[in-house]
Amino acid sequence: MKKKLTFLGIETSCDETAAAVIRENEQGTANVLANIVSSQTKEHEKFGGVVPEIAARSHVENIDFIVSKALKESKLNFDEIDGVAATAGPGLIVCLSVGLNMGKTIAGILKKPFVAVNHLEGHALSPGLENNLNFPYLLLLISGGHSQYLIVHDVNRYKQLGTTIDDALGEAFDKTAKMLNLGYPGGKEIESYAKRGDKNFFKLPLPIINKAGCNLSFAGLKTAVLRETKKINQNETFKHNLAASFQETVIKILSKKTEVAMDQFLKNTKKQNAAFVIAGGVAANASIQKELISVSKKRNFYPIFPKLEFCGDNAAMIAWAGIKRFKKKLIDNFEIKAKSRWPLDSEAPYMKGPGLIL
Ligand code: KG4
Ligand code: ZN
Repeated sequence: MKKKLTFLGIETSCDETAAAVIRENEQGTANVLANIVSSQTKEHEKFGGVVPEIAARSHVENIDFIVSKALKESKLNFDEIDGVAATAGPGLIVCLSVGLNMGKTIAGILKKPFVAVNHLEGHALSPGLENNLNFPYLLLLISGGHSQYLIVHDVNRYKQLGTTIDDALGEAFDKTAKMLNLGYPGGKEIESYAKRGDKNFFKLPLPIINKAGCNLSFAGLKTAVLRETKKINQNETFKHNLAASFQETVIKILSKKTEVAMDQFLKNTKKQNAAFVIAGGVAANASIQKELISVSKKRNFYPIFPKLEFCGDNAAMIAWAGIKRFKKKLIDNFEIKAKSRWPLDSEAPYMKGPGLIL
């Protein structure tokens, strides 16, 4: 019987300081022995977004404690760890470096293998923590920093089908919440305000809905929301209606673009009844879930929403990606540096900035 691997994972790419210890199990999934996430949202709340210097300082202050806590909770000793994985990108260099250096140091002292993980690969493989999934599958990653459709062919083998050409979806939720004075991050608040609003009250734009394949765009939607908030004094009914109309517009966009992505997936892989994984913080939204489940049923895909604790940023997914890469002999040396940009599909066109032709 092959040895079941145990990995320590570390994640500091944005505003969460996280460490986890996971072990492979007989079912081909993972036993999560510890999954510690320390969120900095309170520190960034008053600025309405992540402030890199504050985030980096906070990671430095917390990382020792979070790693020790994960190890203590796992009830293991350092010498029972088979390898260390840490996020090396994409993200803020000052933040990434904290976790990356910590990971290299621990691996160096323990003389254990070190794996540098792409944060997006962490999200992409995260459903494997709980599910025995077959490759290839379709992934929609919708978080505060990313919005992408990808074919997950295998570990280290991705095809990007579409991405946002401007804001990430979580960012659009957060900015809308900010305009309605609902705090930061505001995705959850928008969802709860939307429950009591009229989703057809405001007619908002559906940017690039009928073009550019399954690429996404949310900047025009955000500007339209801003325009509405400038027109009249905001009362609670107004906020409910605008939150509901915004969310409904997002649902229409995701519904249409998901069908396009599913067509592309089928054309590319010829695989029927594949899984459709929806990950990232925005995947927590119940109305979005409902719509994407219905699209999946219609198109014979099997929808999977990882548990919330593995959907948002966490280190269990980094440790899992570390184990998967290690088994493919994708091991790194201590020279590796943090990368601010690191697409999963290196051949995907860069979809931002002036000169973009859709
Ligand atoms: O994946 P995540 O935890 O961190 C990033 O990698 O960004 O995602 C955070 C994002 C935030 O923009 C937050 O507003 C959004 O996920 N979010 C939601 C909901 N819960 C969190 N958006 C819409 N509806 C929700 N229920
Ligand atoms: Zn993330």
